[in-house]
Amino acid sequence: MADTSIPVHVYEQFRKIVGNQYVMTDEESLNAYGHDETERLLFLPHVVVRPRTTDEVSQIMRICNEEKIHVTPRGAGTGLSGGALPHLGGVLLSTDRMNTILQIDEQNLQVTTEPGVITEVLQLAVKEKGLFYPPDPSSKGSCFIGGNIAENSGGPKAVKYGVVRDYVLNLEVVLPTGEVIWTGSNVLKNSTGYSLTHLLVGSEGTLGIVTKIVLKLIPFPKFDLLMLAPFNSLEKAGEAVSAIFRAGFTPSALELVEIEALEIVSRFVDSSAVPVTEGTAAHLIIEVDGNHMDTLMAEMEAIGELLLNFDCGELYFADDAQQKNELWKLRRRVAEAVNIAGYTIEEDTVVPRAALPALIRGVKQLGIEKNFQVVCYGHAGDGNLHVRIKKEGIPNSHGNPEMKQILRALFVIVKDLGGTISGEHGIGLVQKDFLDIVFDQTQLRLMKEIKKIFDPNNILNAGKIFDI
Ligand code: LAC
Ligand code: ZN
Repeated sequence: MADTSIPVHVYEQFRKIVGNQYVMTDEESLNAYGHDETERLLFLPHVVVRPRTTDEVSQIMRICNEEKIHVTPRGAGTGLSGGALPHLGGVLLSTDRMNTILQIDEQNLQVTTEPGVITEVLQLAVKEKGLFYPPDPSSKGSCFIGGNIAENSGGPKAVKYGVVRDYVLNLEVVLPTGEVIWTGSNVLKNSTGYSLTHLLVGSEGTLGIVTKIVLKLIPFPKFDLLMLAPFNSLEKAGEAVSAIFRAGFTPSALELVEIEALEIVSRFVDSSAVPVTEGTAAHLIIEVDGNHMDTLMAEMEAIGELLLNFDCGELYFADDAQQKNELWKLRRRVAEAVNIAGYTIEEDTVVPRAALPALIRGVKQLGIEKNFQVVCYGHAGDGNLHVRIKKEGIPNSHGNPEMKQILRALFVIVKDLGGTISGEHGIGLVQKDFLDIVFDQTQLRLMKEIKKIFDPNNILNAGKIFDI
């Protein structure tokens, strides 16, 4: 295990590498970089270092590896599993100054970027060229693309377009030893050896620090339609989801929001965009996109008809860009709103799509048995249900034995339905105690051995995903 105290000469070396003003030890900076969006958790690093270049990152890692100093890499700090929390102190390495989009290759439909670019900024830059980078986590307006790589993020569009891993062609990575590698090639197919690219995506900053990213792009679809469907039972909404796909449709988003979450977020952003009718238990938000408006209209109509079989109420169509934005704003801010309303961590359960109604039943039953409030929302089309629990007097799930017991019971239900415990947020710090539910000793051993190969001194984001 590395030592968390940092010798004085190391601070001097950091200052030489990145410049005085980018080595921060004042209380305000340590506080600002000591928390994320997971829960009400704060861990102070000894120092915040903000490099600008790959070479600077490499020099920092060489020193830390030699001196055995813990390093926690961090993007925008919007993570939901505590992956960027410096829980062991040491160096907090922020990528926020590495924020240039390096090249949009219109010939090959690719973009090369640094990790500190805000995801939405990247999306808008490629959109100007008629190109589309689909993965769109709720925090797209503030999260960094580098953090999205670390967590293999998803978001509403994943249901049609896939997650971050499906778009990453090649990565420049600084290893814990300070060595710099590219993981692959800027090509659309690659069967050359093990895929280090795919291994690094979703490795939660434990194997290396991503310093350049090459992403695949696709043409931007010309049109989309958005509708909202109310249901008087959460389970019925869940049943409708898999029926939509079985009938041959692939929506570009298929989100579920339980009424309690909608009411909380509507109050939070002071919106009355969604009229809440008596008896509504949940809504599905359904989007289709493509290049032919006629086809989209026909698809939406057919989906609407299909929903009647599931006791769907009156459909609401978002007519223009403003209404669509309003609806998406509500959906994207649910997490923040329910968090402020006193719910603990956003769980990230995922089951095979058709098992969604069973998962919903299981969650609600567990709530009755163990006496907690629960609200569900998420990417129903992917079987990816965010579950949030509230219990009087318990502000955080992390470190709370009662919550831990509840979450274990929840994850066992998920596992028994053929699912797993994170679809897009990662394991990080706060979910690692539950990894044994979904992995056996052999699987865990393989993962830990991989970690050791990349990081023999266990200095990079140590104690995340699992303890070694
Ligand atoms: C969501 C993110 C926060 O779905 O996971 O809202
Ligand atoms: Zn989500």
